Amino acid sequence: MTDFEGLKALVTGGASGIGRATAELLAERGASVAVLDLDPSSVEKPLLGYRADVTDDASVRQAVASAVADLGGLDIVVNNAGIGAQGTVEDNDDDEWHRVLDVNVVGMVRVTRAALPHLRESSHAAVVNTCSIAATAGLPQRALYSATKGAVQSLTLAMAADHLREGIRVNCVNPGTADTPWVGRLLDSAADPAAERAALAARQPSGRLVSAAEVAGAIAYLASPLSGATTGTSLAVDGGMQGLRLRPVGQ
Ligand SMILES: NC(=O)c1ccc[n+]([C@@H]2O[C@H](COP(=O)([O-])OP(=O)(O)OC[C@H]3O[C@@H](n4cnc5c(N)ncnc54)[C@H](O)[C@@H]3O)[C@@H](O)[C@H]2O)c1
Repeated sequence: MTDFEGLKALVTGGASGIGRATAELLAERGASVAVLDLDPSSVEKPLLGYRADVTDDASVRQAVASAVADLGGLDIVVNNAGIGAQGTVEDNDDDEWHRVLDVNVVGMVRVTRAALPHLRESSHAAVVNTCSIAATAGLPQRALYSATKGAVQSLTLAMAADHLREGIRVNCVNPGTADTPWVGRLLDSAADPAAERAALAARQPSGRLVSAAEVAGAIAYLASPLSGATTGTSLAVDGGMQGLRLRPVGQ
């Protein structure tokens, strides 16, 4: 497909996992793509890498300005950079709550704020936020992380309303557990990584983890000019985890 031919995209957290798969897919489909990441050292051509921390407004503004100058404009923003947190409400202190909210929620605000003047110049402007199944299902030991993703889901709707008449679409994807370096680190830290992986896979009706490429495909769908009537939606990419209730195999 060449639906992104001539378009310019910025992907945050694009050096790893879902962001990397998304940056590569958009480029394959014709976009010029800038990756904004804490560590863009692994980003290879044709992707352009920019170092920035989404919790630092000055670094975000500088990276977005450099990317826009190098790309020659901006049509698509994928707000994907994010971090995890484990535990119940008893397990994380106030500093940790502020830190994770700062990355996962306010980070999207900073990047979008810096990008908006450029998106307003585009005739195919789209923002896609990476949300999570944790926004819509109660998962154990994920109080803080789920709160950040619930905020992302609501923020997506509010942004879609605010910018509709400016011609900017805003949507989000809600992945289930996806096979990325992040989940790899989570499994490595488990007492029994194989059992933990099996438990995460079994939680999804499809019986397996989602791939980063599958999430990238959904992000590309929402970002594409072919989806010009789609705004304010969340697209589950979770092997049926949110909506399906299967009976045990054989019953
Ligand atoms: N992997 C999953 O199971 C899963 C499920 C649902 C949602 N998500 C969401 O998908 C997104 C990407 O997750 P992933 O699994 O690909 O993770 P990952 O750790 O593989 O990649 C995240 C990237 O974000 C970058 N990043 C982190 N903090 C940053 C900051 N402050 N500023 C700039 N860049 C920063 C990291 O350097 C890294 O390159 C996250 O928003 C996450 O919440 C992941």
